[in-house]
Amino acid sequence: MAKATSKFFCKECGYESAKWLGQCPGCRAWNSFVEEPITPAAGSKPFSKNSSSHPTRQKPVLINEIELQKEDRIPTGFKELDRVLGGGIVVGSLVLLGGDPGIGKSTLLLEVSRNLAAESQKSVLYVSGEESLKQIKMRAERISNITGDLKFMTETNIENIVETVREENPQFVVIDSIQTMYTDSVTAAPGSVSQVRESSAQLLRLAKENGIAIFIVGHVTKDGNVAGPKILEHMVDVVLYFEGESSGSLRIMHGQKNRFGSTNEIAVFEMDGDGLHEVTNPSELLLSGRPVGASGSVVSCGMEGTRPLLIEIQGLVVQSAFNLPRRTANGFDYNRLNMLIAIIERRLNLEIGKYDAYVNITGGLRIAEPSMDLGIVMALISSYMNIEVSDDIMIFGEVGLSGEVRAVSNAEQRIEEAIRLGFNKIVMPAYHLKRFNDRNLKDCQLIPVRNIREALQILKK
Ligand code: TYD
Ligand code: MG
Repeated sequence: MAKATSKFFCKECGYESAKWLGQCPGCRAWNSFVEEPITPAAGSKPFSKNSSSHPTRQKPVLINEIELQKEDRIPTGFKELDRVLGGGIVVGSLVLLGGDPGIGKSTLLLEVSRNLAAESQKSVLYVSGEESLKQIKMRAERISNITGDLKFMTETNIENIVETVREENPQFVVIDSIQTMYTDSVTAAPGSVSQVRESSAQLLRLAKENGIAIFIVGHVTKDGNVAGPKILEHMVDVVLYFEGESSGSLRIMHGQKNRFGSTNEIAVFEMDGDGLHEVTNPSELLLSGRPVGASGSVVSCGMEGTRPLLIEIQGLVVQSAFNLPRRTANGFDYNRLNMLIAIIERRLNLEIGKYDAYVNITGGLRIAEPSMDLGIVMALISSYMNIEVSDDIMIFGEVGLSGEVRAVSNAEQRIEEAIRLGFNKIVMPAYHLKRFNDRNLKDCQLIPVRNIREALQILKK
């Protein structure tokens, strides 16, 4: 029988099969198999029993024999990014940065490289497979201040990159992007499953053996996953996603996986004419441009990781032109919006259900937190009754099916954030009041509510 020269791989999870399959047995994705040629990697001999002197053989050690050095974490020059990474870049780590095209991945990594070279005095190598040196120079001129040991290279061959890294010995390497890279050990085209997998495996080895921190840029597919197999996400230490509305200037980075820290943290950046800048006070930015004296606008507080974020909720309730009213939830769960409308209709006897209802969370954020409920209810009622909510009120709380307002987590942090930004009145679940009885809250008045009927009274006042 002739030896097979190609195999089929699942684009989603990297599952291997000798023949084409309609559905992947590994991840259940449909129509995800692609054919790719196979060639055994040069020099990858299977281990034999008597290969006692494998070149990189290591001895097992006890946990207290492992030494941790202080400078194991390198600050990136962006406090926000450091927090998402869990306190800076870990030496010898492999980090994958995913995001839509044009979102600012290359810009961010160029700025991080600049900071590492200038502020932290590290040697940095930036490898681009997508842009020419001239294009990089043009970008560098926009973000300015490039000094120190920062070198650029346009290369797509992994073996050449590994060799250059061994010669130059940088402490930080950027690979932009993994989909343009190829290794000689696989004959498939760059960007294919086996290329992405093999190239990443070589970069992983390079990072671990030499103690180099490597950032890899990865493109995302239409449905928002990093293109190439899921295996890539398993191999790297940290997976970061860079998101934002391409029309807006706000960019949010969050961790999807982090072996060295929590994945709850986010970092907020703003893109302008001279690159990305970190936003240390996102609440202020999110509330800027809020309409004055308009009904249907409410400020609420959501948690992004461990950080409270004040956001504006906009509700619009209008006469419907159809028998079946339209409902739209932007940045909020659609089914939950339906539920809240049903609660208002039933518990407050307002005939809101036959109207078109729109809810929008401004700033392009998505908040999947029940603490937004009360804010959304108030925004809808405010629009329906055409009564404005005073602009010094912040509202949060979960709403249950009987119209009761329930306690939420992190109430203290939400209240503190509102006070910090100058809100005078906070409408919140009555449950939390006892904790604040003896607190000096300056000029801020806490207004406890037990159900949405009580909340409605506040609106009418
Ligand atoms: P880029 O970093 O090339 O995105 P990615 O690598 O994720 O594809 O970002 C490109 C976009 O950012 C482009 O639309 C121009 C814009 N930009 C600015 O607005 N200001 C700047 O200073 C820079 C460098 C880019
Ligand atoms: Mg790019």
